[in-house]
Amino acid sequence: MEYKLKNDTKIILRDVLVSDAGAVLEYIHKVNVESKNLMREPAEFKMTLKEEEAFLKSAIESNDSCFLVAYHDDLLISTAGFKGSALKRVNHRVSFGISVLKEYQNLGVARIVMKDLIKKAIELKKTKMDLEVRVDNFKAIHLYETLGFIKEGIIKRGFYVDNKYVDLLIMGKLL
Ligand SMILES: CC(C)(COP(=O)(O)OP(=O)(O)OC[C@H]1O[C@@H](n2cnc3c(N)ncnc32)[C@H](O)[C@@H]1OP(=O)(O)O)[C@@H](O)C(=O)NCCC(=O)NCCS
Repeated sequence: MEYKLKNDTKIILRDVLVSDAGAVLEYIHKVNVESKNLMREPAEFKMTLKEEEAFLKSAIESNDSCFLVAYHDDLLISTAGFKGSALKRVNHRVSFGISVLKEYQNLGVARIVMKDLIKKAIELKKTKMDLEVRVDNFKAIHLYETLGFIKEGIIKRGFYVDNKYVDLLIMGKLL
């Protein structure tokens, strides 16, 4: 589906395809360098093209997962997804993650992507969305709160970045 950003740039948001694997790998390498808000140090991402293809295939085939990609022309500018569990006691929940290339941040990309992701979770009959976010990631926290997520708790020393511990906020939304 096509969307317009705050600066009138047009983007395409859609479900991932296995053929996106190369672009996804390149994208993940970029965001891991650009951001210290995510789980991995840049050198820790070692997936091969084959492994990425297999990962995407299983996300596409799963009833508990979703993986979205947003492109500006041929450039992958955002990925987002959620993952759930087949276990009955937690099958209603999904935990999600999102990132946007630095050059495309603050233009409304994440808000567009998140709304679609929430819609997909509802379509899959999920009733709870969870996330963890650095307590100092004010932009992301603002975004999540304005989309109806509430603060549920804190993971003390959730991350260790640049020789420092950082707490993580647990946020959730009932769907
Ligand atoms: C967090 C992230 C996904 C947001 O993406 P984005 O496309 O820039 O977000 P949007 O433009 O849709 O929305 C950002 C909102 O935060 C607001 N904002 C920007 N800087 C802010 C700040 N320092 N404090 C509070 N709000 C801020 C914007 O005004 C906008 O709100 P609005 O829609 O009410 O005007 C993106 O910055 C990113 O990928 N960061 C690196 C990875 C990351 O942190 N992922 C989340 C991990 S939980």
